[in-house]
Amino acid sequence: MDIDLRGYSVFLTGGSSGLGYEMAKALLRRGASVVISARGKQRLENAYETLGAYGDVYSIQMDVRDEASVRTAAEWFAKNFGKLDMLVNNAGIGGNEPGLEGLPAGHSFYDIPVASVRNVIETNLVGYFTVTKYFVPFMLEGGGSIVYVTTSDATMVRKGQIPYGPSKAGAEAMCTIMSQELSDSGIAVNLLCPGGFTDTAMAPKGLLESHLRNGRTVLAPDVMNEAILFLASEASAGITGEKLVGKDFRQWLTEKGIEFTAD
Ligand SMILES: NC(=O)c1ccc[n+]([C@@H]2O[C@H](COP(=O)([O-])OP(=O)(O)OC[C@H]3O[C@@H](n4cnc5c(N)ncnc54)[C@H](OP(=O)(O)O)[C@@H]3O)[C@@H](O)[C@H]2O)c1
Repeated sequence: MDIDLRGYSVFLTGGSSGLGYEMAKALLRRGASVVISARGKQRLENAYETLGAYGDVYSIQMDVRDEASVRTAAEWFAKNFGKLDMLVNNAGIGGNEPGLEGLPAGHSFYDIPVASVRNVIETNLVGYFTVTKYFVPFMLEGGGSIVYVTTSDATMVRKGQIPYGPSKAGAEAMCTIMSQELSDSGIAVNLLCPGGFTDTAMAPKGLLESHLRNGRTVLAPDVMNEAILFLASEASAGITGEKLVGKDFRQWLTEKGIEFTAD
């Protein structure tokens, strides 16, 4: 399918690294205008520089945990774009955050500092809410696509996954509710996850090495690219409240009887 995204605007959180960076690249290559955002200035600037080779990219510093920061970014977006076609809520944190990174394997939930739980929930759940609250108004007239990047079902309830698992489970519940509340506005709200451990900066130190050593699958950070292009394309019209898994995306298409290739 020839995917032409010229004139299509995307706001993507956490675009300075990993899965977000790769999705931004894929969307830019098809002609979309993509705004990437993150906290860290230097990494954001580097991503902006390198993504510039692929198309019409913009960047704005924003912390999804900080309502004023999100409001400022939304005001900037209103001035410079006004219309939003796709919002990708991707910015997230995991087990390498302060208070979580030093926990030994086999730790219990009661070993976890409350501040670390708050930080993960503030980012992965409240952050998704805040960004959606401030950016959905740019879609209410013309419709659009909201994507929530979450995780595999098993990760949400696996031992050792507090607070990451519950933060993503909450995000999934919120996505389902929003997909219903927005169904009359022509706004699709869907979930997307890679489908397994993915080689990005999020991985706690040593985990990548132990996965490779034990012969476990490690996914590449472009694993969600075909699915994000599908969600940006007309081929996904009418698809809302669904969970797409990057690794299993082609199988999902077959099950749904949808013909789509991003080639
Ligand atoms: N890697 C995996 O195995 C895996 C598996 C399943 C799901 N996921 C999900 O995929 C998404 C992307 O993660 P990744 O693996 O690509 O990790 P990553 O390489 O660490 O990228 C995370 C991005 O989010 C940004 N970010 C973090 N906290 C933020 C905040 N408070 N405000 C704004 N931006 C923030 C980071 O930039 P700054 O730090 O500079 O802000 C960075 O750009 C996450 O939601 C994650 O839960 C990852």
